[in-house]
Amino acid sequence: MIDLSPLVRRLAGTPLAAWADSLPAQLDERLTRSHGDLQRWQAALQALPMLTAEHIELGEQLQLAGACDDTNRAALRQALLGLSPWRKGPFDLFGVHVDTEWRSDWKWQRVAPHLELRGRRILDVGCGNGYYMWRMLGAGADCVVGIDPNWLFFCQFLALRRYLPELPAWHLPLALEDLPEKLEGFDTVFSMGVLYHRRSPIDHLLALKDCLRRGGELLLETLVVDGDASTVLVPEDRYAQMRNVWFLPSVAALELWLRRAGFVEVRCVDVAVTSVEEQRATEWMTFQSLPDFLDPTDYGRTVEGLPAPTRAALLARKP
Ligand SMILES: C[S@@+](CC[C@H](N)C(=O)[O-])C[C@H]1O[C@@H](n2cnc3c(N)ncnc32)[C@H](O)[C@@H]1O
Repeated sequence: MIDLSPLVRRLAGTPLAAWADSLPAQLDERLTRSHGDLQRWQAALQALPMLTAEHIELGEQLQLAGACDDTNRAALRQALLGLSPWRKGPFDLFGVHVDTEWRSDWKWQRVAPHLELRGRRILDVGCGNGYYMWRMLGAGADCVVGIDPNWLFFCQFLALRRYLPELPAWHLPLALEDLPEKLEGFDTVFSMGVLYHRRSPIDHLLALKDCLRRGGELLLETLVVDGDASTVLVPEDRYAQMRNVWFLPSVAALELWLRRAGFVEVRCVDVAVTSVEEQRATEWMTFQSLPDFLDPTDYGRTVEGLPAPTRAALLARKP
């Protein structure tokens, strides 16, 4: 499904070379136990019309443009809808606006000004469909590897890649736990929206640190609550209807966790309440979304009566 030889060539001579060499076999093995809907998603990918992106905008927004008649535009739209639900975006592809559940561009606008990504070799852990990977390239990254075990998001990435075949971005359908220990080869590692899904958050931070070279930078983004360094919310059951949310620390607690995990220069660069304009159902994601997960009489609370989603972005360096 994906030719990894350009990635292997790209990482030759770097600390990641041996890992890159092992990836084709690992992915072949992973494909033997992939998702039951993969064939349907592959059919959607095959239905994508042949189009050439003559104008590629990844900096201010994610927009591809080029010759595309109405028939091809309708075919493109239909094929992309076959890869629904689309959660992270938006994407503007040859006149088709993929209005995703999330305005991920808003998060990128909050985070990107605090980062220097030019020339960087980046790992995006929990990259979803790879939306931010393209934006990282737009910010000047040398190459971006994303990992996410979700096969639909992998297929959505391949849809974009169809029209951006030459760009140095690779999505691997792997979890962080599938990576070898002590990779120590990335300049920047992103973990956005993943920590609160982990049952062992400190182990997650240590695993992220293992992926970085010395001096490398971590961008960690996760759900937080108000409070001091001893405040951590562990939901009794669901949080905003999600079953798999474990730890929501305060910013101060998160900073402490990062320092205990061995990071230095830990600093919070953004805190933002997630609005119902930022996360909502659309034609491209028709299931329930944030407005359904909040108390209808008080958007400051989830339906479970817990503090409504607030996200913090922190930077930290591996010494
Ligand atoms: C809430 S989404 C965040 C997506 C994106 N990073 C963002 O900030 O919008 C969490 C993502 O992490 C992925 N994920 C969950 N567990 C993971 C793991 N162990 N390793 C890598 N990715 C994981 C999920 O498949 C999902 O796409």
